[in-house]
Amino acid sequence: MGSITLQNVSKTFGEAKVIPNINLEINNGEFVVFVGPSGCGKSTLLRLIAGLEDISGGKILIDGADATDKKPSERGLAMVFQSYALYPHMSVRSNIGFPLKMAGMDKAEIDRKVTDAARILNLTDYLDRKPRQLSGGQRQRVAIGRAIVRSPRCFLFDEPLSNLDAALRVNMRLEISELHQKLGATSIYVTHDQVEAMTMADKIVVLNRGNIEQVGSPLELYRNPANLFVAGFIGSPKMNLISGSVAQQHGAHTIGIRPEHVTLSTTEGAWKGKVTIAEHLGSDTFLHADVEGIGPITARAGGDFPVRHGETVFITPDASRIHRFNDKGMAA
Ligand SMILES: Nc1ncnc2c1ncn2[C@@H]1O[C@H](COP(=O)(O)OP(=O)(O)OP(=O)(O)O)[C@@H](O)[C@H]1O
Ligand SMILES: [Mg+2]
Repeated sequence: MGSITLQNVSKTFGEAKVIPNINLEINNGEFVVFVGPSGCGKSTLLRLIAGLEDISGGKILIDGADATDKKPSERGLAMVFQSYALYPHMSVRSNIGFPLKMAGMDKAEIDRKVTDAARILNLTDYLDRKPRQLSGGQRQRVAIGRAIVRSPRCFLFDEPLSNLDAALRVNMRLEISELHQKLGATSIYVTHDQVEAMTMADKIVVLNRGNIEQVGSPLELYRNPANLFVAGFIGSPKMNLISGSVAQQHGAHTIGIRPEHVTLSTTEGAWKGKVTIAEHLGSDTFLHADVEGIGPITARAGGDFPVRHGETVFITPDASRIHRFNDKGMAA
């Protein structure tokens, strides 16, 4: 069990309406990612669900029952924070078992649960170490272990990987996805990183200024962004957004074309531009070009595309992959 429903949820801090009005359905077993820019209300929304903040209006249902006035400990949820907040003087074993000890569980049962969690997280060999004797990724796993032992209905993650270096982040991302497949518990994961959102989520909730811009699977958002905000936020490098006469020719106020949905040539094509920067990643080349009559455009080419800074390049958008938006910024 672990479905969560938000009904007209709002949150005000003093004068500031941080969450105006949110309705959202999270199904049992789903991996849901809240993504959006810094300050858009992701952590606040997670803390409202956890019960760490009181909501200003609306209702939160957990497994169909009103949980709005329940204490955090009564909600059956477990939160993993960005700062792991481990107790430095306690062993990994004691850190993981701590919430169970606080709940008064007997020692043999705690031992069994800690051993289980350590096995799932590959921490068995580290149980007698102190947090300072662990790497960042291992510490993060201890923090997750402390959530697992409580067998929560739902895991709440608030940017759990942002303290880790890039390589470790990719590893831990995979580990958390695998863990989700193993445990099958509902998970809500907050991040400002759209790559994390795309790679981990069953369902992405794109937030902007406390409002939901769109909810959908990663590929739904990628293929059919509902508005300019989602179009610009999901996908890397960003979708090119073009207004003016070129957009009007396509019957739109603004058109969008992703860098990977163009054909490049050094001899002919729809748009003629000059390469301002060529980023060679090996597998891909990202060309930034200044196109006549349009302005800056980013295009993805193969790793060995020959063009360099200052040279001429022709860019032809794939007509079937052009996104159209009206003057309100909504997909048209
Ligand atoms: N206790 C508080 N009192 C007043 N304002 C707050 C409080 N907590 C958060 N806010 C404000 O609410 C807004 C949303 O904050 P929140 O922490 O939810 O953002 P976020 O999306 O998690 O951002 P980040 O990606 O930077 O963590 C911000 O403008 C923030 O300043
Ligand atoms: Mg936050």
